[in-house]
Formats: sequence, structure tokens, C-alpha cells
Amino acid sequence: MADKIEIMYSEEEINKRIAELGAQISREYQGKEITMICILKGAAAFTCELAKRIDLPVEMEYMRCSSYGNETESSGVVKIDLDLDRPIRGKNILIVEDIIDTGRTMNYLMDILHDRGPASVKLCALLDKPDRRVADVSIDYTGFVIPDEFVVGYGLDYAQKYRNLPYIGIVTPEV
Ligand code: IMP
Ligand code: MG
Repeated sequence: MADKIEIMYSEEEINKRIAELGAQISREYQGKEITMICILKGAAAFTCELAKRIDLPVEMEYMRCSSYGNETESSGVVKIDLDLDRPIRGKNILIVEDIIDTGRTMNYLMDILHDRGPASVKLCALLDKPDRRVADVSIDYTGFVIPDEFVVGYGLDYAQKYRNLPYIGIVTPEV
């Protein structure tokens, strides 16, 4: 039997929401330049779509982090696997993440980035799963708030699969 995936947000709904976020960000940062930091791999699809909807000068940077922990829960001890290749001092940073779950990863990462002296740091997350939050994270731009379900698609994976699905769905692994 294959994993079962039940659609939560269609590609059309997601892209509509991303266009709204892009318009809001363009308004709020008017006259400024934005350095988007895409958190790989999960936020890659979201970051590209969002960047296209921002009507301002944008620089795109990439980071990849892993968090020691088990399969389904991060520990909060975050390791940077791929770091930025340029300083961010004085820049307006917009971190782009796929999902904020326990919040441990982002809580840690935001401290690290703040220490590098940017002009500002804001966070944009495609999904927010607040039921499982244990670490304090303030999300400036949220795509959708979702219940405590494991979701895949639009960049999000289950064991590295399903990142390429154009929609977001709840996955029920095969037994
Ligand atoms: P946390 O906020 O530190 O718990 O970890 C967030 C990370 O866990 C995200 O960047 C995802 O990589 C992963 N994650 C959490 N919930 C899900 C989910 O429902 N689907 C896929 N990945 C998830
Ligand atoms: Mg991630």
C-alpha cells in the first residue's frame, strides 16, 4: 500500500495566498531592499514563488540547518550545514521557512542571525502549526495556520519524498 495524501490546500489556494503575502511585504518594505534567506530544503519552492511576488529589489541567500532529534521532533540543538556566504550586517533580512512547528529550530536560528548585526530580521513562514510550539517564535508573515497534522508538498517532505507535490496535503504513512 502507498502513503495516503489528503489535500489540505490546492496549488491555486497556495499561490493566491503567496501573492497576498508578496503584496503585503512589498508595501511594508517600500523604499528598502530585502535579503531573503531561504531555509533549505523545505522553503525552496515557497521562496521562489514569494520572491516573484515582491516588487522591490531582492537578494536571495540560502541556509541549511539540521536539528539533532528524532524523526518527528527537533531538539533545538541546531547545526548549520550550509551557511550564508556573505555578511548580513546592515541588511533587512526576511527569513523564509516552510513550517514552524515546535519553534526550536527558528528560535535558535534567529538568535544566530541577530548576532550578525542586520538592520532588521523578520520571519515569513508558509505554515504555522501552533499546537506544538514549545519555543517562542514570532512570525511576521504567515501563509496558513494549520492543525497538528503532518503535511507534505510544496517543498515539505516525509522522509525526503513529496517535496514536488504542487499542493499541501496531510500524509498518512502506509502501515
Ligand atoms: P521545529 O519548529 O524546530 O519543530 O521544526 C521545524 C521543522 O520541522 C520544519 O522546518 C520542517 O523541516 C519540519 N516539520 C515540522 N512539521 C512538519 C510537517 O508537518 N511536515 C514536514 N516537515 C515538518
Ligand atoms: Mg525545514
